[in-house]
Amino acid sequence: MANVTVIGAQWGDEGKGKIVDWLAERADVVVRFQGGHNAGHTLVVGNQTYKLSLLPSGIVRGTLSVIGNGVVLDPWHFRDEVAKLAGQGVTITPDNLHIAENCPLILPFHRDLDGLREDASEFKIGTTRRGIGPAYEDKVGRRAIRVCDLAHLDDLDPQIDRLCAHHDALRAGFDQPPIDRVRLKNDLAEIAPHILPYAKPVWHSLGEARRAGKRILFEGAQGMLLDVDHGTYPFVTSSNTVAGTASSGSGLGPGGVGFVLGIVKAYTTRVGSGPFPTEQDNEIGEFLGTRGHEFGVVTGRKRRCGWFDAVLVRQSAAVSGITGIALTKLDILDGLEEIKICVGYTLDGRHYDYLPPHAADQARVEPIYESVEGWSETTAGARSWAQLPAQAIKYIRRIEELIQCPVTLVSTSPQRDDTILVRDPFED
Ligand code: IMO
Ligand code: MG
Repeated sequence: MANVTVIGAQWGDEGKGKIVDWLAERADVVVRFQGGHNAGHTLVVGNQTYKLSLLPSGIVRGTLSVIGNGVVLDPWHFRDEVAKLAGQGVTITPDNLHIAENCPLILPFHRDLDGLREDASEFKIGTTRRGIGPAYEDKVGRRAIRVCDLAHLDDLDPQIDRLCAHHDALRAGFDQPPIDRVRLKNDLAEIAPHILPYAKPVWHSLGEARRAGKRILFEGAQGMLLDVDHGTYPFVTSSNTVAGTASSGSGLGPGGVGFVLGIVKAYTTRVGSGPFPTEQDNEIGEFLGTRGHEFGVVTGRKRRCGWFDAVLVRQSAAVSGITGIALTKLDILDGLEEIKICVGYTLDGRHYDYLPPHAADQARVEPIYESVEGWSETTAGARSWAQLPAQAIKYIRRIEELIQCPVTLVSTSPQRDDTILVRDPFED
């Protein structure tokens, strides 16, 4: 398959950055197709660490990078992230970065609204407060200002009327003044030259790349359990994170998605609120969090930690059509005497082999655990199966069996070479 789509198979933070970077080195194009600057992808290249939120990971190596129409783009954040990377020696130009002309913008009042909602209500999603949800609402509500509008600022008034009619009413409910239209237009005029040079019909160039046999890598953000349809609704993000979105979020047909590589952490973490059946709010959770450096790249929040949940990953694999998984952070489990895997749930006396859809049921399910023996040796840095202790291999094999999906590679440290490759997704 010429193309690969990488997605998170849990609640995000599975270690996508490293895997994407590893694949990006051999890809001709890297594409972001959903989400916005709520993502946090850490790349370690040599002795440099790059933290990306919005830009596709390929940019660090100068690979052609594309922000697809399925992304919501905060133009001010974009400008700052480009400048930050430039400060680290990464050259970003309209030759190596393209933004879809039909990509909707995140505007300052989207960020305000995201924060106001989080602060005001008892019901907290625990968002990244970056305006992601409100920007997607405006897209679906047919009110969004898009990248192409930046080239038509003089025609924007009717659209701003509709945006203000909607947002001013919401803002009044939070005792906020109406949107300052003059300022908004000035701000857009000021930022437009930072965005427009990158604006392209990316569906067109991606189609050409595909016909020319180029390798396209689709880089998912967040994880399948944060998908607005299939995730732990309403505690989700506002986009579809499943692999199929690579097609609609970039303008390449469904056949272009290629090999679907699901990134799976050897245990489970979650940031923000919402159900988490295998959460360990105890010394096990502390151990995993400390060992695994489980703090958010975007918000710095401490991640909730727990045992591997095979039920959830099996569901992710099925819903997203995962071809194979990349298992990450296995080394964090080194030294544990006993490791638990969730293999099913019970709720009110009934057995479940999937996560029921209702949030209250999701919060009440009792995990059924299977125990496996741990290993005392270190797996960190292993580059072949022979370097893994027998118990670690057993753990991996058991996971494969339970999630009904094969392991494509195992990652044993943040360093790109510390990888055990079973199949090459690009060559598959
Ligand atoms: P990466 O790409 C983990 C979570 C937030 C919150 C919910 C909604 O690093 O895996 P949003 O701001 O998107 O409206 O917040 O989604 N969330 C993430 N959690 N990793 C991410 O990205 C996330 N992006 C959003 O914590 O629960
Ligand atoms: Mg993250």
